[in-house]
Amino acid sequence: METFDRKNFWEHIYQTKQLEEVSWYQPSPRISLDVMQQHAIPTSAHIIDVGGGNSLLVDHLLMLGYQHITVLDISEEALRRAQQRLGTDAKKVTWLQADAATFEPTQAYDFWHDRAAFHFLTDQKEIEHYLKAVHQSLTPYGIFLVATFSQQGPKKCSGIPIQQYSEKSITERFQCYFEKIACQTHDHPTPFNTLQNFIFCTFRKKQL
Ligand SMILES: C[S@@+](CC[C@H](N)C(=O)[O-])C[C@H]1O[C@@H](n2cnc3c(N)ncnc32)[C@H](O)[C@@H]1O
Repeated sequence: METFDRKNFWEHIYQTKQLEEVSWYQPSPRISLDVMQQHAIPTSAHIIDVGGGNSLLVDHLLMLGYQHITVLDISEEALRRAQQRLGTDAKKVTWLQADAATFEPTQAYDFWHDRAAFHFLTDQKEIEHYLKAVHQSLTPYGIFLVATFSQQGPKKCSGIPIQQYSEKSITERFQCYFEKIACQTHDHPTPFNTLQNFIFCTFRKKQL
């Protein structure tokens, strides 16, 4: 049986599709920016966008004056495209090509952002590794914002199965390491005139 090569899969997507041709495209990451504002994340905060791909979040953060941004993705092509778009501003960002399932952070973060990457992890060992990594690298009052497909959302993304979450199931899965602050659902309008129901949840690190 052929094993699924996660990296090749995502490289192929970014090599063959333009920014606005993917279902997850959003011109403005409104909810993520609103959550950052609600929590008064200062421009000096260390921020990581895991599975950030070619998303415009980094552009918005730079415009707002954030100084310590890291974008991590499994796809080199996604990062290359984001860098190309940003031009000289790309130098202000740390770019990491890594698999979130095995990523070992080497620095502390005040704000950990993940929209539609975590839900691709379906293996319990990989989920556990990811949650431990977030917990270990978040600063004591750090915020973890994660957005996944909800139980009313799609069961697959780009043809591969994802793990859907509800407020209850994500709170229970994360409870060893994090306390829930709030969750909200959101119908994301795709460029193909369909809606995808997401759940955005914010968590605070538990002091273990
Ligand atoms: C659905 S897209 C979302 C992109 C971006 N977060 C956004 O909101 O526009 C999923 C992204 O996660 C990345 N990804 C998927 N699995 C990953 C993994 N195990 N580690 C790191 N990145 C991953 C993909 O390359 C892709 O850029």
